[in-house]
Amino acid sequence: MDTVTTTRLSPALLTVVERCRELRIPSAILDERGAVVESLGRGHTLSEKLMGTPLFHRSIEGLLAADRIEPIELWPGCWILMLPILSRRRCRGYLATAFVTERFLGAEQFRLVCDQLQLDADAVAAPARRQELMGDTEVRRIASLLRWMAEDVQQQTEHSGEIEVMSSQLGEAYEELSLLYQIATKMTVTQEPTDFLTEVCTDLHQVLGLRWLTLQLSDTHDSLNALKGWTHSAGQCDLSGEDLRIVGRELMQRFSRGGAAIINDIQTLEIPRLQGVCRQMLIVPLCQEDQTFGVLFGVERADDKDLSSVDSKLAHSLAQNIGIFLDNAILYEDQQNMFMGTLKALVNAIDAKDTYTCGHSERVATLSRQLAVAAGLDDRTCERVYLAGLIHDVGKIGVPESVLTKPGRLTDEEYAIIKTHPRLGVRILKDIRQMQDLLPGVLFHHERYDGQGYPDGLAGDNIPLFGRLIALADSFDAMSSTRTYREAMPLGKVIQEVRRCAGAQFDPHLAEVFSTLDFSPFQSMIEKHRKRQSPLHKALGGSTREAKT
Ligand SMILES: [Fe+2]
Repeated sequence: MDTVTTTRLSPALLTVVERCRELRIPSAILDERGAVVESLGRGHTLSEKLMGTPLFHRSIEGLLAADRIEPIELWPGCWILMLPILSRRRCRGYLATAFVTERFLGAEQFRLVCDQLQLDADAVAAPARRQELMGDTEVRRIASLLRWMAEDVQQQTEHSGEIEVMSSQLGEAYEELSLLYQIATKMTVTQEPTDFLTEVCTDLHQVLGLRWLTLQLSDTHDSLNALKGWTHSAGQCDLSGEDLRIVGRELMQRFSRGGAAIINDIQTLEIPRLQGVCRQMLIVPLCQEDQTFGVLFGVERADDKDLSSVDSKLAHSLAQNIGIFLDNAILYEDQQNMFMGTLKALVNAIDAKDTYTCGHSERVATLSRQLAVAAGLDDRTCERVYLAGLIHDVGKIGVPESVLTKPGRLTDEEYAIIKTHPRLGVRILKDIRQMQDLLPGVLFHHERYDGQGYPDGLAGDNIPLFGRLIALADSFDAMSSTRTYREAMPLGKVIQEVRRCAGAQFDPHLAEVFSTLDFSPFQSMIEKHRKRQSPLHKALGGSTREAKT
């Protein structure tokens, strides 16, 4: 049986004890059978002493477990208040207080108590009278006050408990909302999908406090492309990479639909590699409409507490977000592939128009991106520069082939037609929303830094950056490529030429950066195209054609 002491008293009863001490009212802790376990007074007063007597013990036996908390006149002039001490909803004892009035000194029980305490009744009565004993009414009032106080404090304690529970629930709800908000803000399909999935897995692992959590994507879902079979684990995983993949595949088959599942006894799954690894497991399918992308699975909480329905709801909400993200990522990739396909079709159309300069667009695109990277532009801008380089000459589609591929010098009229290709390019592309930012590269790649270029004769920094970047790459490729009327200029000489024209034809800062580039990738491309071109060139009888730009 548990021993009841003051350390086991509720805050409400401790408050009563404290008030009794202040009022010099003796109190004692009784066990559940009514025996005094601890006296809380100084042990000197009559009312305190009488609680330890066999007579008192016998007299209160009938009152025990009666759920009676009203003050009672136990004997004539002797009042007691017994407040039950509860623990786990069971009465473990009582906090008892006793008050005596002068009337008690004349009662038979007073004599009996003194006998049991081996005290001389007259010797006890004389100082007791001098202590100005309380009257019956006063005793009843004080006892009632103490009871009300106990009830009030008890209510306050219960309210505090309710507030604590509510605070904890609010805290959990906040964590859940905060995590979902964070995830939602990260759901931009333009970022690397693996970065997003890694962050989600890490965040959920932390919020749920799991030992480890794994996000595994299906290795049979073809639309996932590069993400097929992708796996990430957060926390200290107990399984090897291969075991983890096998377990993931098994769980994906069994939990391909529905919400999050908490498996309380891992043995019931009958997956040999999981035996002995953990007790409890959280399994969440990653799906969207009729597609199953993968599964999230993790093992019990690091603090050994059980996973709750709140945890599974949070994991399910997050899994839904992941499903939407993956669905969007697949659509975005399809769209990107279609966009790149359109670009390649345009580039092929330009190359088909003038087979001799085949590969020019790709080389200009590659060089422009290299220059953009070396100039310190951000990753996305560098990629956009590459795309602008690919399509910079798309307007040549609208230039008659007879002009574009005419051997020898062009007349002024023919040259004027050639000079329309930047504007023609913009007309071709202007209605494609995804290419709006590429248009300055198309329109201004023949502008010169000194203002002597076309189509608008812009000068200096008035020429958009994409135009200035592509102009350098475009001219460099023209000078470095073999033409039928001349051999390619050696690399050193082309770089000299770029430096010589800095500030006149080219942006001086970009020209300086350009001259420091590694041109080996460019030279490999030239070589590759030259080999592809040779049979065609021979078949054409070595005609003297040149791109007229
Ligand atoms: Fe051009």
